[in-house]
Amino acid sequence: MGTRAQEIYDVVGIGFGPSNLSLAIALEEHGSPVPGRPVTAAFFERQPSFGWHRNMLLPDTTMQVSFLKDLATFRNPVSRFSFVSYLHATGRLAQFVNTQTFFPTRQEFHQYLEWAESGVGYRVSYGSEVLGIRLPERPAAGEPQYVQVEVRDTGGRETRLVNARNVAISTGLVPRMPDGVERDERVWHSSEFLERYRQVDPDELKRVAVVGAGQSAAEITRFLYDSLPHAQVSAIVPSYGYSLADDTPFANQVFDSDAVDDYYFGTDRTREAFWRYHRNTNYSVVDDDVIRALYQRAYDEDVRNTKRLHFLNLTRVSKVARVGNETRVSLESLADDGLRELDLDALVFATGYDSMEPSGLLGDLDRHCLRDASGRHRVERDYRLTTTSELTCGIYLQGGTEHTHGLTSSLLSNIAVRSGEIADSLVQRCSEDASAPD
Ligand code: FDA
Ligand code: NAP
Repeated sequence: MGTRAQEIYDVVGIGFGPSNLSLAIALEEHGSPVPGRPVTAAFFERQPSFGWHRNMLLPDTTMQVSFLKDLATFRNPVSRFSFVSYLHATGRLAQFVNTQTFFPTRQEFHQYLEWAESGVGYRVSYGSEVLGIRLPERPAAGEPQYVQVEVRDTGGRETRLVNARNVAISTGLVPRMPDGVERDERVWHSSEFLERYRQVDPDELKRVAVVGAGQSAAEITRFLYDSLPHAQVSAIVPSYGYSLADDTPFANQVFDSDAVDDYYFGTDRTREAFWRYHRNTNYSVVDDDVIRALYQRAYDEDVRNTKRLHFLNLTRVSKVARVGNETRVSLESLADDGLRELDLDALVFATGYDSMEPSGLLGDLDRHCLRDASGRHRVERDYRLTTTSELTCGIYLQGGTEHTHGLTSSLLSNIAVRSGEIADSLVQRCSEDASAPD
């Protein structure tokens, strides 16, 4: 997509994963703030084409959210962008219903996202990395305030500036490695897993290990065990064993859109209670089917009296070193404080993610963004950063709002509703701009 020189978009979206895809759809379906003048929007995505955690599209992995919590249904149950519309369009509606599941495979959900993207993709520039946002040096006289978004073609050197009255930052989670551990060609984070794995001759992978006890770790451990029948596979598990992701009905209410209000308008004690009681709906936990699949593999080995799947429980990684062609990992036992080392052909850190943090993109603009007593960004209910009166452009966040809006911040559960709320807020601001006296 080309962007017209000097145009000031009503909103520029940074990143085009499911969150901003859902926002593009919400804008598409929204009425115009001024008759005949729809909201103008452009999105910039650094990947060459649409992709949702492609490096974790492992066989047999399923969604952790009901298909009804798609890009649009909870905002607009008759949306043409729903998962049901996708099934209808592909001729699989009846077959899907016959599977009697709420949880499609991640492969199928990816196909759904690509199908939905094809309806709004004309607004997106791929291969376009956003480097930062700033106020213009010489703003156009008489114009309401706008910001400039600096964009660089991926792999290129040249940058261009795109003008926007509002931005929606949605750059996603940030892979986390333990302190002091660097990635290399045989030390991977789960977010790069399939790409790295495909670059290696599987015959060279005779001893592999996976660090962590979350969903990513369990899925990769199962994949490596099934894909490398000749390999010793170690799971470095900090707990005594994998724990269950609680998705039972009462606990699952923390992902309802009403819970956002309860969290946002609650007290510090309210928010602390959400985390204390319900962290186990999402973090460091694993779905029941994957836990059972791994346990069954271990049990089958007992029956056969063979052993190549090793669970090193109560164990954390303290150090990683390269010794010739091998990766040597130092392990600390939480059972007896003992230390041991393991030499490996590949080591995967499924050690989770940090939240999205907009400061890097905001640069100097960040000084106009207010913070709470703990130094975290203050965020309005409509997901706009709270700013000083000098910055009137809206900086919306899709992600990075766990401290203000709760557990759904980084998840799909509430994206349809959240995008609708952001679209409503944008449309409202556009109509205020349009009715402001010149
Ligand atoms: P996402 O990370 O998807 O997209 C951000 C986009 O921004 C990326 O495409 C990135 O390339 C782009 N970008 C980053 N920086 C940029 C820049 N400077 N310029 C331009 N583009 C930039 N949740 C859930 O509710 N149910 C589920 O089943 C799952 N499953 C799941 C599987 C796996 C393997 C992971 C790691 C996570 C999940 N999640 C999940 C949680 C996950 O956060 C969620 O599914 C979505 O990816 C959130 O969508 P976003 O668009 O916010 O981020
Ligand atoms: P996670 O849930 O944050 O788990 C990270 C794990 O790494 C934790 O068990 C953590 O233990 C462990 N860890 C961290 N440092 C360690 C160290 N030095 N040594 C040993 N262990 C260490 O991350 P995730 O599994 O990647 O999940 C992230 C999100 O993606 C979740 O929302 C999840 O549901 C989602 N996801 C979904 C799917 C799917 O839809 N099928 C697949 C994968 C992921 P501590 O808790 O002790 O720190």
